[in-house]
Amino acid sequence: MPEAPEPSVAVRRMSPYNPPLEGRSEKLRLDFNENVIGCSPKVLETVRQAASRGFLATYPEYAEILRRLGAHFGVDSDQVTIGAGTDEIINGILHAFVNPGDEVIMPKPSFAMFRFYTQLVGGVPIQVPYRGSELAFPAEEIAAAIGPNTKAVCIATPNNPSGGVASRDEVLHILAAADRRVVLVDEAYFDFHGETMVDLVKDWPNLFVARTFSKAYGMAGMRLGMAVSQNRNIAIVRKGQSPYGVNSLAVRCALAAMEDTDYVREYVRQVLEAREVLCSTLDRLGIRYWPSRANFVLFELGEGCSRACERLSAMGILIRDQSAYLPGAARVTVGPLGETAQFVAAFREVLGK
Ligand SMILES: Cc1ncc(COP(=O)(O)O)c(C=O)c1O
Repeated sequence: MPEAPEPSVAVRRMSPYNPPLEGRSEKLRLDFNENVIGCSPKVLETVRQAASRGFLATYPEYAEILRRLGAHFGVDSDQVTIGAGTDEIINGILHAFVNPGDEVIMPKPSFAMFRFYTQLVGGVPIQVPYRGSELAFPAEEIAAAIGPNTKAVCIATPNNPSGGVASRDEVLHILAAADRRVVLVDEAYFDFHGETMVDLVKDWPNLFVARTFSKAYGMAGMRLGMAVSQNRNIAIVRKGQSPYGVNSLAVRCALAAMEDTDYVREYVRQVLEAREVLCSTLDRLGIRYWPSRANFVLFELGEGCSRACERLSAMGILIRDQSAYLPGAARVTVGPLGETAQFVAAFREVLGK
């Protein structure tokens, strides 16, 4: 009898990660921190115009998008790389710098893909808990965890799922403690927070800052993320990346999206307005939540949390049960006021309040 192949040691050891991605299109999607109403109409127009047989038959070109992103971040184009979402950027960076057995430090709870890709490259995830019930960023603890086997530190600011941020001083503290290691600062929710560490790249040869078109720009389905770092680091990451990893439509759309800054600015304004309304509603309902600088809010429902998420889903509203990581907690994406009001109405019905 022929036998099936064995998986690699790294894949065998990985903890599976299966986010609930299926069957979402007909529902109000407040579960993945996407843009709730979608991308700029100019991006859609670009898709229509680009869709020709010749365009789809041709491999993508990246010089223009890299130049444009470099200008956007105030760096040279050889200080930027792109990937199919921040996910592929995290993968690319960890693959380029982490050997099997090396440690990668990340706070907990944080973005699941830090652990996922660490395990995929055979690294050892070292999860440092956020501090106390207020989930304060554990800068000291992360710095203290850095040892001879540490090869990288991954942090998200604002953090998913808590919405809290790491201050500039805290990031600087980690950068200083992590000499000769990668420090990846994932700024996927930058647009809602407005503070960046990109300017630190010129002075810190260990820093990578990642961004994405998946959140404020409303292009999660397109899969385009990027990282900024010193050119030596970017050359190393690019060496291990596919020369055609990002599709040509995503590239065209990203160029169009960057032209329409008004659209993103207005969307962010609406989200910040709705986030305030949501938080004051949670205050009135006596539900504890964690202050957020992103387009989502984590709140505490206690024992009935999973049941409440299921009931909301049955009513056509998806939020994300976080009980597996934080007992009794759920995360809701914030969109404009209308969508937030829909959530609040259904939520009150579920709570009977
Ligand atoms: C912190 C963080 N980084 C990155 C991503 C994903 O970005 P992308 O769609 O670009 O892979 C997410 C998505 O939830 C996130 O929360």
